[in-house]
Amino acid sequence: MIPDASPDLVARTAAMVEAQFTGEGSGHDWAHIRRVWLAARALARAEGADLLVTELAALLHDIADWKFHGGDEEAGPRAARAWLLAQGAEEVLIARVEAIIREVSFKGAGVATPVATLEGACVQDADRLDAIGAIGVARAFAYGGHKGRPLHDPQQPPVQHGTFAEYKSNGGPTINHFYEKLLHLRERLHTAAARRVAEERHRFMEQFLAQFLNEWEGSDLLPG
Ligand code: ADP
Ligand code: NI
Repeated sequence: MIPDASPDLVARTAAMVEAQFTGEGSGHDWAHIRRVWLAARALARAEGADLLVTELAALLHDIADWKFHGGDEEAGPRAARAWLLAQGAEEVLIARVEAIIREVSFKGAGVATPVATLEGACVQDADRLDAIGAIGVARAFAYGGHKGRPLHDPQQPPVQHGTFAEYKSNGGPTINHFYEKLLHLRERLHTAAARRVAEERHRFMEQFLAQFLNEWEGSDLLPG
């Protein structure tokens, strides 16, 4: 028997994604997806977005990262469609989820992608909330460590970007990533609910950076 598309579909999708992504280790692991799922659900409730569409799209938003490689823009939407089809989901639901994954996962030409739906806005905002705050700090240094980059290098100042579209990270020290991308995410959120959450996370990053730079220079050391 083909199962119905129902809230149970969310549980089955979560179980599938958890099994596929556990221990993935590239910053797109199950722990990241789980946080994005929780955040997207909270934003959807606050904004009155469709919960089923939002939750499925959040769970599947990084699906291309395990199954396919090589910059195929359609890999994520295709994998999501195949999964939902196999679960007996209706075409209207599949099409909505697929469209969100297409707009959220698109990375071509370094373009800052606008989102067409409230549900897409919730998923993209949730993904961005996971890149700021304490988790954002931890993920940035985990990424930089993975790439063998220095924490900070005053001889290599951050690149000043004129537009958000140019923010795609360069290969510099990890501290630069905050000035080049992470401190700009707050202004790029779509929903009021996400902007409220971002206030404290943004403030925390600024406090972290001030403290980090103080310690770097030894400004907080005792005199004498
Ligand atoms: P997403 O696919 O979620 O939009 P990315 O794949 O660009 O984001 O990044 C995943 C995580 O790695 C994020 O937390 C991001 O801040 C971090 N990251 C990406 N590029 C860099 C970089 N150059 N330096 C430090 N952290 C980075
Ligand atoms: Ni993500």
